[in-house]
Amino acid sequence: MIKFLDLGLQPLANSYLKKKNLNLKEKKFNLEIGFNQKNYLVSIVNTVPKEKMFNNEYPYKSSESKTMQKSFKDLTVKIKKKFNPNFIIEIGSNDGVFLKNFNRKSIIGVEPCKNLARLTQKINYKTYSKYWSLKLAKKITTKTKADLIYSANTLSHIKNLDEIFRAINYALSKNGVLILEDPSLLKCIKNVVYDQFYCEHIYVFSTIALKKILEKFDLEIFDIHNTKTHGGSNRYFIKKKINDIYKIKGSVKKEIKKELKFGLHKISTYKKFARKVKKSKEKLLNIFQILKRKKMKVIGYGATAKSCTVLNYCKIGNTFIDFFYDTTSYKINKYLPGSKILIKKYKKLNKDKIDIAFLGAWNFKEEIFKKEKNFIKNGGKFIIHVPYPKII
Ligand code: TYD
Repeated sequence: MIKFLDLGLQPLANSYLKKKNLNLKEKKFNLEIGFNQKNYLVSIVNTVPKEKMFNNEYPYKSSESKTMQKSFKDLTVKIKKKFNPNFIIEIGSNDGVFLKNFNRKSIIGVEPCKNLARLTQKINYKTYSKYWSLKLAKKITTKTKADLIYSANTLSHIKNLDEIFRAINYALSKNGVLILEDPSLLKCIKNVVYDQFYCEHIYVFSTIALKKILEKFDLEIFDIHNTKTHGGSNRYFIKKKINDIYKIKGSVKKEIKKELKFGLHKISTYKKFARKVKKSKEKLLNIFQILKRKKMKVIGYGATAKSCTVLNYCKIGNTFIDFFYDTTSYKINKYLPGSKILIKKYKKLNKDKIDIAFLGAWNFKEEIFKKEKNFIKNGGKFIIHVPYPKII
């Protein structure tokens, strides 16, 4: 693996701090990103043990956003119409935002974070609070294989991909369909989305890399949909090679062509990206320094894991941002890791009290701008750092 980007010492992105722990030393790791020239995988170099990240206090809930709710709902309608599955497994079922659209008898969730698994167990959806593995696949599918396996924004969090796909291969029926959805590396590199990298996001996948991994397991992509979630994602439709029901669509060739044209198979592309990231840091810091000089009231909006990477890499702390607003109850009255900025319970932005908000949840820009239309109408502004830092 060739390292191409160093995002410095970083704390665990979802380890929000309680006030009483503010003076304790935080665990940090060096966030470096590398490119594997053999299989085209882009990944973080130093990983953190999964038990430290996915435990019974995992704060992220997919249902927090209307955008995500709608995206999952629309997909379930399509799945029912196109594949009409009898038995579905969801790997990384989170708070059930996808699962709940199906009949209880037809779907099983797998969610290692106990606080989240409990939410779907409570409403009688069968949910295994375990990490996805071959052992678990054998337990769930000894009698009947799944005709659909779905996993969104989860595989990028799992180090041992071989184990994952071995288990998927075991659990999936001969003519079954695997749907994977994850942020697109092409979008990430094109739009200088360096905050897609943090301790939990071990990989950001390209189609060319995923194709290589799947080949080892006799799996192949037969369709790709580009989606808008998380700043641009890909939804991959995958089948076993022996399944000849589905023909490989032109979308697969098209996506691969786009990736190769952009150079996702070449290290020079990533080195260029790293140079852009450095410039982005200087520019963002400069914006904050100017705002400070002008004594503007600056807050943060959406205390995301992504913000953790940006704030710690750019060394933006509570001298630049007074506090963050967030809608997630777990995060309220805690502090962002590393930067130690307080997170307050969300209130609609008021131009009389706030001049400008750093958009930590930039991936929900449209949803947020709709919500804050009065703030914007009254001259309120936002700072966004992708594709380059600016005030809007
Ligand atoms: P998200 O960007 O999905 O993930 P990550 O933490 O993986 O980078 O997190 C969105 C966060 O933004 C979440 O904490 C909820 C918050 N949020 C708001 O506070 N207000 C909003 O209107 C939206 C859409 C999100």
